[in-house]
Amino acid sequence: MNKIFTPLKINRMVLPNRFVRSATVDNLGQHGRVSEAQLDLYGALSEGEIGLIISGGIYPTLDGLGATGQLGAHTDDVIPGLRRLVDAVHKNNGKIAAQILHGGFRCQTEVSGFQPIGPSAMFYEETGLQVRELSSDEIYGLVESYAQAARRLIESGFDAVQLHGAHGWLLSAFLSPVMNKREDEWGGSSEARSRFVRLIYEGIRKMAGPDYPIMIKLGFKDYHMDGKPLSEGIETALMLESLGMDAIELSEGIEPKWGHHIRPNALEPYYKEECLRARQALSLPLILVGGMRRLRDMRGIIDDGFADAVSLCRPFINAPDIVRRFKEGTAEFSECTSCNECIERMLEGRFQCTLT
Ligand SMILES: Cc1cc2nc3c(=O)[nH]c(=O)nc-3n(C[C@H](O)[C@H](O)[C@H](O)COP(=O)(O)O)c2cc1C
Repeated sequence: MNKIFTPLKINRMVLPNRFVRSATVDNLGQHGRVSEAQLDLYGALSEGEIGLIISGGIYPTLDGLGATGQLGAHTDDVIPGLRRLVDAVHKNNGKIAAQILHGGFRCQTEVSGFQPIGPSAMFYEETGLQVRELSSDEIYGLVESYAQAARRLIESGFDAVQLHGAHGWLLSAFLSPVMNKREDEWGGSSEARSRFVRLIYEGIRKMAGPDYPIMIKLGFKDYHMDGKPLSEGIETALMLESLGMDAIELSEGIEPKWGHHIRPNALEPYYKEECLRARQALSLPLILVGGMRRLRDMRGIIDDGFADAVSLCRPFINAPDIVRRFKEGTAEFSECTSCNECIERMLEGRFQCTLT
């Protein structure tokens, strides 16, 4: 079957095929603003006929900056640059969503200029920094900042926004009993831990209107002994679906060590079973990410009903035109070996695959 090359509707947005470029920070921005290198990168991606390109994570407030070259949506000044980025994709008839990512407890003072923040105070060994607990007023302030960031992204012309609710970053930290030890309205039960995400979603929906596509990359389960199980991730997803969330990309929450969600040497989909469980419970469009390299496997995910779209990250660093070559029949798999050298390079300010 060729369903993978058929359109997918996510609210008012119609994708020409079921391939998504998963959000990928390139670290090429300049002080939160779009650079020429990024215009070239997104131009090349959009020439590759990818159904939907999701931007690298964009911070909503300066204290959420995780990497020096990350893009920001923290002030209206960024809008003209972001418009150029969107135009670079639209001129090739591509679709682009903006991912909103607040780094939370993982941020480093020497990069962001702020003490890292989170739902609860803690010492974070990977950065060697003390994390400050947010006050309830500050959390309400962040809800508003997310809505303002989304407004700027919509004014810049993005076709959709995606909340980053995975990989331990701020929203995912709130969702997790490991990181969120609060005993007030933001912590305790699964419902209270998901309140922050719910209010952010509702704030953006109110501002964006009913037909604007809002998606989330959700950590369905924590890879931690005391973490949230898959059943709780599905419960949160059901709640978001009932409120009108338009699509969910399935990933993981709290990781044993940063980067666990970018599995080295992966050549096969690694959240397939979780996705099947989620699919059985949810009706909204579901996007599967992680480890897919062979076209045969990707077709199987769609044809067998595991997910409605497949999302790839490292294969597009290797070759931005891989979807076009899949479609033309000149490629059957991605050359990406998941060696993860691209992560080291990205952190050093070079965004490229070692194989190309
Ligand atoms: C260089 C690099 C940057 C990434 N940046 C982000 C990001 O900004 N937001 C996000 O949700 N995931 C990010 N990821 C994770 C990917 O989106 C994806 O979930 C993960 O790499 C698994 O997919 P893959 O096996 O196709 O690479 C990044 C991964 C890499 C390698």
